[in-house]
Amino acid sequence: MNMNTAAGKGARGLTTTEAPFIEDAKAQGQLYIHQPYEEYSEQNHEAWRKLFARMLPRWEKYANPHFLKGIESLCLNPNQVPRLDDVNNFLNPLTGFRAKAVAGYVPAYKFFDCLRNRDFPTTITIRRADQLDYLPEPDIFHDIAGHVPMHTDKAFADTLVRFGELAYLAAEIGSGIKDEHEKLVRLESIIKAMARFFWFTIEFGLMKGKDGLKVYGSGLLSSYGEIEHCIESPNVQRYPIQLEWVINQYFEIDHYQPLLFWVDSFDHLFSLVDELEAWMKDGRLNNVSGGEPAVNEEDLRSFLVPGSVN
Ligand SMILES: [Fe+2]
Repeated sequence: MNMNTAAGKGARGLTTTEAPFIEDAKAQGQLYIHQPYEEYSEQNHEAWRKLFARMLPRWEKYANPHFLKGIESLCLNPNQVPRLDDVNNFLNPLTGFRAKAVAGYVPAYKFFDCLRNRDFPTTITIRRADQLDYLPEPDIFHDIAGHVPMHTDKAFADTLVRFGELAYLAAEIGSGIKDEHEKLVRLESIIKAMARFFWFTIEFGLMKGKDGLKVYGSGLLSSYGEIEHCIESPNVQRYPIQLEWVINQYFEIDHYQPLLFWVDSFDHLFSLVDELEAWMKDGRLNNVSGGEPAVNEEDLRSFLVPGSVN
């Protein structure tokens, strides 16, 4: 298919923060949407093409082997924004995961619950082709090229599901607390701990292998600058992961990460999620240290009344 037919005639574009289709979906209160492929403009495909081409050599150098295998298994087209249906045709038979198109932010409980069901909430918009390094919010390159290749790996996919199950446990723990104030304080702390764990593993995790440290965190895998910086820079502190540290460590999202943690393997990561569950049950997540990330109202409410968030 050539690029002219790939970009629909009169396509309005699905550009981050500038997509009328997404605005309409949000105005109608839709969270789960379809991917209107004909809406992608030539500029959108150009952005994908440029992002993919410049990342490829960096993935080969810095990404962990599971990711590289995943990129191959998904048969992503380097020249066009991927169709989610095509991605799922390759992904689903491997681990049961599916990329599921969403219109925007997914409240925390709902997000984790999707993981539990092997659905991955996926942004369908893409950053501007003339601002490849500016990312006001996650886009399809981050989600499909950064996250989804990892979901082809069974041990990693099982870890995500296991992690998603913890949200269910957290909501259950919350519902068992009678005092309203106490309930909010504890849930906020538990959500913060979960968000930190997710950040320092799924988004920004490193893995130690026979060739040294490699990247498996999707925030790093989708960043042209940071994937190199996180491995090469003397300004980054890299430590073996410690659960008690991670859940109490604040993070900031607007600059390269100064502190990263490595795991030995995905089995190791899975065992950490087991440990996180035990700690949640024991109340060890009830009073983690303050600071980022802030837990917003919507995230908190999503845990209080899980069914209320669509
Ligand atoms: Fe992400």
